[in-house]
Amino acid sequence: RKLLHQQLAGERIIVVSNREPYIHSKKDGEIQVHRPASGLVTAVEPVMRACSGTWVAHGGGSADRETVDSHDRVRVPPNSQEYNLRRIWLTKEEEEGYYYGFANEGLWPLCHIAHVRPIFRTSDWREYVRINQRFADAVVKESDSENPVVLVQDYHFALLPEMIRRALPKATIITFWHIPWPNPESFGICPWREELLKGMLGSTILGFHTPYHCKNFLETVDRYLETRIEHESSTISRRGQLTMVESYPISIQWPPPWQGTLPPVEQTRYEMLAALGLPAGHLLGIGVDRMDYTKGILERFTAVERMLELHPELVGHFTLIQIAAPSRSALEEYQSFEARVHALAERINRRFSREGCQAIILKAEHHEPEEVNRYYRSAQVCMVTSLHDGMNLVAKEFVAARDDEQGVLVLSQFTGAAHELHESLIVNPYHVEQTAEALHQALTMPEYEQQERMRSMRAMVRDFNVYRWAGRMLLDAARIRQRERLAVRIG
Ligand code: G6P
Repeated sequence: RKLLHQQLAGERIIVVSNREPYIHSKKDGEIQVHRPASGLVTAVEPVMRACSGTWVAHGGGSADRETVDSHDRVRVPPNSQEYNLRRIWLTKEEEEGYYYGFANEGLWPLCHIAHVRPIFRTSDWREYVRINQRFADAVVKESDSENPVVLVQDYHFALLPEMIRRALPKATIITFWHIPWPNPESFGICPWREELLKGMLGSTILGFHTPYHCKNFLETVDRYLETRIEHESSTISRRGQLTMVESYPISIQWPPPWQGTLPPVEQTRYEMLAALGLPAGHLLGIGVDRMDYTKGILERFTAVERMLELHPELVGHFTLIQIAAPSRSALEEYQSFEARVHALAERINRRFSREGCQAIILKAEHHEPEEVNRYYRSAQVCMVTSLHDGMNLVAKEFVAARDDEQGVLVLSQFTGAAHELHESLIVNPYHVEQTAEALHQALTMPEYEQQERMRSMRAMVRDFNVYRWAGRMLLDAARIRQRERLAVRIG
């Protein structure tokens, strides 16, 4: 936090993302607020609270309009009111084209390469351009100087940096891409690849989670645009605009907000097992995801099935609790994925459930962070088996939740987190036998080994927390700003 404040020196930042950090909805005539299942929000919200400023986002909650002032702003978090949330309204058609269509049927599968074919419709692209412009105009309005610091978040806004740059040439624009960046061949199938790349190159800094994604991006630009690339400094220069491309692995808040306030792990586990009607000593695994085909939920269930085949002594003594928050469910791909997840859980449960004990408990509903934390603290093992994931913050949240230094993380090698959490059991989720064996290893691991692994992972998440993520980007931005200022003086 100190690093963040040093870099900002009192300056307010503007964050732009599609998903808003607080969603207001109405239930029984009462306005309620909840926090969405989004890695982006998990990471950026504590940064915003530390910096203050304005967060511009789509107002998607059914009661969002009832809570804003005449400038479409509301102070959040609801209890402490530390920063402004500026909401942008979209019609159903706009949301369909820009969010469901181009962002989530086009760019999401394009960047993840999870073997779901991207769909590119010209009408969706047009909405994407229009809505990017709408957000750019809002950022310009919210900014109270000619050189604001703007943090653009994710694949919903590839065109925003250049649009903001046109209106505010001196702005410091830091764009962070929260999902993977594919190789040039894969990215090249997008009909608007040049436009997207040019849009992103309006940024001062362009951040990805891993050096590998940066390398893919540089190669993609090299393939499709006329630019000068300096590999040594990892910068791209196009028409007088310099963009630095750098990896900034995202993280979570540390210390966790609940630190020191929770009952001991044994008590949480005892209460959890009682609530689930399971006997003391029953082993629990936990999976926490949005219901999304990139998360490897089917592969995870298949690995549980295989583990129970290979180790029948655990049948009736182990349960995987899978939390799957509903996500993008207006899209057919997501509906059919959800149906397959339910069907597979049912099939495995028919085979391996024993009286009063299911092999898989599927909770396909939204859970607030406090509840998720109770599951993390009750489980012997957390399974993160994404087929491809920019970072995956569930892995880091699980580690943060385990102040008892126990519990094992099974982690997909295709997550950004696998580049940092080396003491997890790293698996290829497409390899069922290997994942099943890792799960078994986790369930039978001696306590001293769990402790050794968990201690190192906790030190990693503590030292490389989300304040450092944001602080490093702002430090790099400050250096660039200073260089630009001095260069002008000499000239
Ligand atoms: C990923 C994306 C985020 C997004 C989140 C939830 O983490 O990188 O931008 O907010 O998924 O998805 P949703 O579509 O519900 O915002």
